Amino acid sequence: MEEIDKEKLPRHIAIIMDGNGRWAKKKNLNRISGHIKGVDAVREVVTSCRELGIKVLTLYAFSKENWQRPKDEVAALMGLLKEYLLKEREEMLKNNIRLSAIGRLEDLPTDVLITLRETIKETEKCDGMILNLALSYGGRSEILHAVREIISDLKKGKIREDEIDMSSFSNYLWTRELPDPDLLIRTSGEFRISNFLLYQMAYTELYLTETLWPDFNREELLKAIADYQLRERRFGLTSEQINGL
Ligand code: FPP
Repeated sequence: MEEIDKEKLPRHIAIIMDGNGRWAKKKNLNRISGHIKGVDAVREVVTSCRELGIKVLTLYAFSKENWQRPKDEVAALMGLLKEYLLKEREEMLKNNIRLSAIGRLEDLPTDVLITLRETIKETEKCDGMILNLALSYGGRSEILHAVREIISDLKKGKIREDEIDMSSFSNYLWTRELPDPDLLIRTSGEFRISNFLLYQMAYTELYLTETLWPDFNREELLKAIADYQLRERRFGLTSEQINGL
């Protein structure tokens, strides 16, 4: 069991859950079986994060680009998402987990969107952890959306040009109520950001593992956190400045 320091936990962990398809292929199963097993991994990681005391967990569950996958795979993913939201609602309430979501949520099928909004509403008073799902999400779309909103507010006189700075800009992003991620985990041995939280990840520590998402579990999560705790986060400063030497 990995030793981790409870005093130095990442506040916000973001995860690119990759490798469901390859996991299934290795076992001679269809891709959807990989996603089904992926949902089990989601459950284990959500529970583990809550138990550890992580404050925000963002999961890249469906990207804007994922709509281009075969129709039956998209339908299966949407079905799994809806089932997860319905089945886990009680568990979220019991564990004081608030659900939130970022992305072009209006792209989701109506029944999924309704279930999502209901779960968000029902868990809105929970304050133990935020489980934030990125759905129909793309980082560039998020930034463009923010720019358009700022222009609209400028025109309406709601904001002045000299008020646009990094802090006010962040308030126009879908993640406005969340801290930036401290740790990004990507599974399945890929070395890409894949259009995820582009603005928010300026100083995020990256942890890349060969493990395929369906095999990712509590032990793997602890390994990622232990690795993060060995890093020295300098935010552009020198080591001496950070250590007050
Ligand atoms: C990447 O594997 C995974 C996805 C595109 C979807 C992630 C979704 C889940 C884990 C299940 C639904 C989520 C929730 C929150 C209930 P891939 O298919 O790209 O794998 P490959 O690269 O090996 O083909």
